[in-house]
Amino acid sequence: MALLRFIPVLYVASCTLAVVKENFKSCEQSSFCRRLRGFKPEISHYELDLSDIQLTDNAVETKLTNFEDNSHFKISLSAVHGDIFRIQVDELMGLYPRYRPQYALNGEPQAAKLSVVDKSKDHITLQYSDNKATLHAKPFKVEFFKGDSLVAVLNSRGLFHFEHYRTKPSENENNEVEQQKKEDPGAWEENFKSHHDSKPKGPSGVAVDITFPGAMRAYGLPEHADKLPLRSTNGGEPYRLYNLDVFEYEIDSTMAIYGAVPVIYAHSPKHTVGFFWHNAAETWVDITNSKDGNVMSSLVNLVSGTQEHSVSAHFMSESGVMDMFVLMGPKPRDVVKQYASLTGVAPLPQYFTLAYHQCRWNYNDQDDVTNVVAHFDINNMPVDIMWLDIEYTDGKKYFTWDPVKFSNPEQMVNNLTSTGRKLVVIIDPHIKREAGYFLHEDSLANDYYVKNKDGSVYEGWCWPGSSSYLDFYNPKVVDYYKGLYAFDKFKGTSDDVYIWNDMNEPSVFNGPEITMPKDCIHHGGWEHRDVHNEYALTHTVGTFKGLTERSPTRRPFILTRGHFAGSQRFAAVWTGDNAADWSHLAISYAMCASEALGGISFCGADIGGFFGNPDVELLQRWYQAAVWLPFMRAHAHIDTRRREPYLFSEDVKNRIRIALRLRYAHLPLWYTLFFEHEITGEPVIRPLFYEFPEDSEWYDIEDFKIYNGGSHNIPVSLDKILAFYRGGSIIARKDRPRRASSLMHNDPFTLYVALDNKQTASGTLFVDDHASFEYRSKKYLYLHFKYADNTLTSNLIDKTDYPTKEWVERVVIFKPPPGVKGAKLTSKTLGSVDLETSYTSENKALVIRKPGVNIREPFSIKLY
Ligand SMILES: *[C@@H]1O[C@H](CO)[C@@H](O)[C@H](O)[C@H]1NC(C)=O
Repeated sequence: MALLRFIPVLYVASCTLAVVKENFKSCEQSSFCRRLRGFKPEISHYELDLSDIQLTDNAVETKLTNFEDNSHFKISLSAVHGDIFRIQVDELMGLYPRYRPQYALNGEPQAAKLSVVDKSKDHITLQYSDNKATLHAKPFKVEFFKGDSLVAVLNSRGLFHFEHYRTKPSENENNEVEQQKKEDPGAWEENFKSHHDSKPKGPSGVAVDITFPGAMRAYGLPEHADKLPLRSTNGGEPYRLYNLDVFEYEIDSTMAIYGAVPVIYAHSPKHTVGFFWHNAAETWVDITNSKDGNVMSSLVNLVSGTQEHSVSAHFMSESGVMDMFVLMGPKPRDVVKQYASLTGVAPLPQYFTLAYHQCRWNYNDQDDVTNVVAHFDINNMPVDIMWLDIEYTDGKKYFTWDPVKFSNPEQMVNNLTSTGRKLVVIIDPHIKREAGYFLHEDSLANDYYVKNKDGSVYEGWCWPGSSSYLDFYNPKVVDYYKGLYAFDKFKGTSDDVYIWNDMNEPSVFNGPEITMPKDCIHHGGWEHRDVHNEYALTHTVGTFKGLTERSPTRRPFILTRGHFAGSQRFAAVWTGDNAADWSHLAISYAMCASEALGGISFCGADIGGFFGNPDVELLQRWYQAAVWLPFMRAHAHIDTRRREPYLFSEDVKNRIRIALRLRYAHLPLWYTLFFEHEITGEPVIRPLFYEFPEDSEWYDIEDFKIYNGGSHNIPVSLDKILAFYRGGSIIARKDRPRRASSLMHNDPFTLYVALDNKQTASGTLFVDDHASFEYRSKKYLYLHFKYADNTLTSNLIDKTDYPTKEWVERVVIFKPPPGVKGAKLTSKTLGSVDLETSYTSENKALVIRKPGVNIREPFSIKLY
């Protein structure tokens, strides 16, 4: 450890990182993507039968026919509570059932009332609140209106295609030559590198286009290591959604990585519309933005009859039903909340989970763990959670401990908890195929594994070597799996031990594209092809149930790498195996902002970068930046040099210490934002377009300097962390430095009041026990702070109570009125008290000392 101090301050990261692109398919190498993308915009050959419709209070259902091959489908349009339309299309009398994701939706969407406003033989218009949908019979398309504005058109480009299941044309059929000519060579079976996909059910793709007239930009479709606004994919690769363990993923790329959230938002200053493609199969999405080319704009002009901008998306999936939600907006806040109303929100996490996490592949042994924490303490750096990667297990057998290196996990955990810390250990879904390993024996005996197409148990290669994969689609597997987290099963764990689910895309080192073959079979007869993007979610559901039953009074904490729409209800995510490179630091913000819009707010990136050695400048900057993402964890590859923040020079340590303390000071803010997320569905972090910043001001949090909206060049030294409070906000902080967040629970608050140009501000604060579910029984405080007319007031928003020792130690007002002589506090128990005030140098801020009031008590402070 001492040696590292002598490493020159500036050394250059020597690693060269590159994804092996050849391991992953391009659209052209995937039969269904090639087929569906190959269709050119045209007049749709699908037609609705409006002569025979079934109408209920909430839905209209009718028949859709592809008059080219005379295949038939049922289609329904329904209204969902919260300004959402839902369109579902499935085969009529299909050869096989089609898969619907089972876990993404947070229960069945609540139906709303739909009324017919207009009907003829070529169209029907339905209304719900100020939203209208017009189904056109021929050519088939659906127009969506907010008020009188056309905001979305489904199948405007005629790219709707539904490949119905059919029997394979036999070799000796007369028109064989004709058939072969039309059929894509990969339609009935397909090879990629050395892998064969047998495709027993043949081609089954579904695709649709949706155009958003007037839209300037689109956002969404996490997870990609790309900028936040979606790019036009004409001439390039579509955005791919297929959960994959991509070794050394590259940035500025539409390649698939670990997670898939098929929701998109099209935005213009006038309205924002969302589209959720509820499908768990491999999906590719082409984006066309009229600003980026002239081909589309001419087409869109045909549609909307105007010269407006527009964005169009073309969704293509390999299998499953078509289940589509159109989120009618009208603002970014509305579409994101509409999406949250479908797929749910992250439940309030425990307070400590928002603090700083220290991880490495691997902490060598239990003494190493104890030592690292001791060094944080010696160096006055806060840390809450230590993490153990795969090496803690006995030979990569999950739910066991290495008998030599981790011989006494109870004592190690006790050592951690005695200083207010927690532990997180990794549990992956691949199971080592080793005779005598209880989990493998149980799984074989009870038929818990995913199968090959011939019904035998599937074997793949992962960390433990030969492995099989638990099939969480079998309810018995979930029951069994959750039981493994019981304290008497997973020895050495306690209420203070939490779980990291990694490698659950699933990652299979010797599988096609490093994952499971698509013709593997899950419980219920579903092919892996149908459920792939949902697999990680089923894994975290099992873990979530396990932790909830193990510790019924503690909120679970799970980190997952693979994820799907709805994962936010069970787990936090991180951006996976990034690299020690400035570009990866920069993209971490775009990636987490995109996840947040996709419902998954609890997101972070490995501080320092997983692969490679960051130079000290990058490492410091990474800490400084990570303060402002919801999940803050340092992690590093096993081949990297140790980089715990106490290993560096005094200068560097000091900067990182300041960053960590800044994080801890703002924990009340993060916690309040997560509480509000659970109530409202609003993201915890928000890109600027979400908040419409035109008339906002920002206050530099260090020197109180004011910036108006727009763009500014601001010089930053290494000591400078660029962060702003928005004019008009009140932020409650805990500024006393501590070793861990658990030791701050009773600490006092400082209220930072950043006035807007009307000399007003407001803010909220959530306070509770930090760990239990008691907040769901009204045992919490939710406060509203308001500053107006030179008076700060605090009041309860909800009629709830939580007895707390937390109190107000100080108030700091940015851009205060001049000439303040003092302040008067009024509260029920304290009565009327005069408070000391003083200005900072240059009168940029006013400090009010020691209000002393308990945070539970409503109060006012008037300046005079
Ligand atoms: C726990 O801490 C004590 C005191 O520092 C130490 O002696 C012991 O080895 C630690 N135990 C483990 C399992 O880390």
